[in-house]
Amino acid sequence: MVSSTKSLLVTYATSHGSTAEVAQHIADKLSKYRVDVDSAPIMQVRNLAKYDVVVFGSPVHNGLMLPALTHFLTTHGTTLARKHVFLFLTCILVLEQDGAASAIERYIPNRIHEHLGIPPENIRAFAGKLNWDTITIDERWQLTNRYDGKKLPDQNGSSDYRDWDQIGGWANTIAEQLNLR
Ligand SMILES: Cc1cc2nc3c(=O)[nH]c(=O)nc-3n(C[C@H](O)[C@H](O)[C@H](O)COP(=O)(O)O)c2cc1C
Repeated sequence: MVSSTKSLLVTYATSHGSTAEVAQHIADKLSKYRVDVDSAPIMQVRNLAKYDVVVFGSPVHNGLMLPALTHFLTTHGTTLARKHVFLFLTCILVLEQDGAASAIERYIPNRIHEHLGIPPENIRAFAGKLNWDTITIDERWQLTNRYDGKKLPDQNGSSDYRDWDQIGGWANTIAEQLNLR
């Protein structure tokens, strides 16, 4: 039980912006508790010293978390291992049967969460957002040819699969776990 939490960071990698919005939603929910919450893109985070808790997230592209996030974990791994850490992924595999569990199993490289000591209950995979009209031709090619799920969702327009209640619910679970009031 943590009753002296003072400072919390929500940080994220994003390619098309939707994971940034997920992170912001989590930060907004946590801000309702008595805790200092910062939210920042992962590339801007230099020093974790002031934070007791770090929540970080990345979309999955081509079966991997974004390089910025893996770089962050490599750089700050030792520090993170001493803090309360929560990890989330956004992806479309979550839309499939048992997709969230599969995403956590497949998309976290080298079981890095185990090295960092992140317990399974501190990890979530959320359904993301795909805008087929704005992704590049290269990205469309990658997605249609390399997606490792059973079936891609409809390939036109913008499809937002994010479940804000579920995402907000996770923020409340984090607050409960940290004994925030
Ligand atoms: C080029 C590309 C590759 C993707 N690869 C995967 C993938 O391998 N598995 C998956 O479940 N989702 C995949 N997705 C879906 C993204 O994870 C999802 O759209 C996410 O919400 C994007 O987040 P962002 O807007 O922060 O970049 C891919 C999306 C793109 C554009």
